[in-house]
Amino acid sequence: MQLRKHAPARALIASLLAAPQLASAFYLPGVAPTSYKQDDLVELHVNTIRPVGDAESVLRSVVSYDYYNPSFGFCKPEGGPKPVGESLGSILFGDRIMTSPFELHMKHNETCKVLCKEPVTYNPSRAFFVNMRIQEGNSLNWLVDGLPAGQKTVDVLSDTEFTNPGFLLGEVMEDGRTKFNNHYDIIIEYHEVTENAGDYRVVGVIVQPESRKYTGKIDENTCNSVSDIVELSETQDTTVQFTYSVYWIPSTTAWATRWDKYLHVYDPKIQWFSLINSAVIVVFLVLTVMSILVRALKKDIARYNRLDQINLDDLSGTSALEDGVQEDSGWKLVHGDVFRNPPNPLLLSIFLGNGTQLFVMAGFTIAFALLGFLSPANRGSLGTIVILLYTVLGFIGGYTSARMYKSLQGDKWKLNIILTPLLVPGIVFSVFFLLDLFLWAEQSSGAVPFGTMLVLVAIWFIISVPLSVAGSWLAFRAPAIEPPVRTNQIPRQIPPVTTYLKPIPNMLLVGLLPFGAIFVELYFIMTSIWFSRIYYMFGFLFLCYGLMIITCAAVTVLMVYFLLCAENYNWQWRAFLAAGASGGYIFLNAIIYWGTKLSLSGLAGSVLYLGYSALISFLFFILTGTIGYFASWLFVRKIYKSIKID
Ligand SMILES: *[C@@H]1O[C@H](CO)[C@@H](O)[C@H](O)[C@H]1NC(C)=O
Repeated sequence: MQLRKHAPARALIASLLAAPQLASAFYLPGVAPTSYKQDDLVELHVNTIRPVGDAESVLRSVVSYDYYNPSFGFCKPEGGPKPVGESLGSILFGDRIMTSPFELHMKHNETCKVLCKEPVTYNPSRAFFVNMRIQEGNSLNWLVDGLPAGQKTVDVLSDTEFTNPGFLLGEVMEDGRTKFNNHYDIIIEYHEVTENAGDYRVVGVIVQPESRKYTGKIDENTCNSVSDIVELSETQDTTVQFTYSVYWIPSTTAWATRWDKYLHVYDPKIQWFSLINSAVIVVFLVLTVMSILVRALKKDIARYNRLDQINLDDLSGTSALEDGVQEDSGWKLVHGDVFRNPPNPLLLSIFLGNGTQLFVMAGFTIAFALLGFLSPANRGSLGTIVILLYTVLGFIGGYTSARMYKSLQGDKWKLNIILTPLLVPGIVFSVFFLLDLFLWAEQSSGAVPFGTMLVLVAIWFIISVPLSVAGSWLAFRAPAIEPPVRTNQIPRQIPPVTTYLKPIPNMLLVGLLPFGAIFVELYFIMTSIWFSRIYYMFGFLFLCYGLMIITCAAVTVLMVYFLLCAENYNWQWRAFLAAGASGGYIFLNAIIYWGTKLSLSGLAGSVLYLGYSALISFLFFILTGTIGYFASWLFVRKIYKSIKID
């Protein structure tokens, strides 16, 4: 670990939190080392070509392309490229891994091997396409023995060297010319297995692309001295020869730690600082809120019970009783309405069911990640585990939805059973499908293949829906959860409320705090999604998730208390919407990010970016809304249980 050199203690905690240690301490399921003998063929696979952002770290596109997209003109292996088996998650997250014509042999150096037999001709329209992709900062992604080929990068902030996956397709030079890389220096680090001499393992892959305008025959001795660059002309045909050299270099890195140099923490100081910062704020906030609330409630309850006592003592007349009632103020007044069923119980219960499903799924996913199961060595494991968990947890979703619906005395129970597994996943799937159509139109490899779509639908309908229905069925057979106080026949009138308790300001205030708890981590997650950096700081994520849950619950409970004190008993939807408003903030944040960090050319890029952001924000809305609702629900039940009502 490079971090360890500097500050042992901090780095140790950092690495524990970041969990690459755990990941590399034992072999992960499905990831076993491959050993090669001298001169064994080591396969090089190619993955999608995707934009990684330019030197000022501004992203110009979010559309990725297949390596063998005909416009690029890259050489194919004999007999055509074949897809390499991938997991569902890896396909969903945009991997399209194929075989390649590169021939690498263990410990066998090569100089300037010619890649295609015939030079490739770029006509003006192809040249235009490729030049556009170069301007967008697209990079090639190769895998050698499952390890991404990268470029060595120095993080100027922490002065550490790390490997950034991918290398550039070409570059726009200072004089405005666009150079196209047609030569690759492939530098492979290998490690001899200590217990087994003569067995070698791949532990590092660096590719340095170059642009070389070859004239005449390519000669091993002179090819490295070509200084002219290749430019693809947009007015006439250009022919290009592709070449590569391979250098095998012995390394001391063991196979088990070969991923460490990819797992670079960008700005660890900022992350630490912000995490501690928000943790302190959250703890302070929650403690303050709780102490105020508990004290106020104790006072309230004592007063209510005293008033009851007076009322009971004074049996002689009704006047004192009326006095007592008049003195009664605050949340007790609405005891006969507080458990009145909210409007739209069907939608509320469906959201709550799906929210619970998301909540448990996120918890399990982060726990798996902390245990090191989702290390980047396990390609696509994050996507796969998310899909699997969501599917299986359909049971919990169905159960929660039906149980809540029954408790809210909803009568359309069939509709509840059917819509719980269909409504939210249906919205998500439809948006996903529409965005996929955009990608199809762009000929992007980011478009999920039709077969994968079918697999998703099959998993959804064959596993998730029946599980959800089973959960619902069980819940409808269980008794309804009875409210602790009876609801009056006639609803009370709700007095007008002060500004900050009006729905909109209320949502803006309450939603801000959970968003604040995850704001910094969100930045890193978004960077890793859109700039395709490896995200592995699951320790941070775990703490942030915890902080978010606590903030969300505390703030919503406080809001509900104020609302009830203002004699407004419509707390159910209000709690859900106010807490869920943090989803709105996430979307707002995405828009700001769009304005500052991205400069997307073309409509498709923007539509895709905004579409995916909206989708994530929507799921977040349901997740935080559910947390807020259940926190308030527990709170309301608890306080009304603790007072005597005659
Ligand atoms: C391959 O080339 C590199 C760099 O020139 C050199 O360090 C290495 O020893 C060579 N490897 C073999 C097996 O010849």
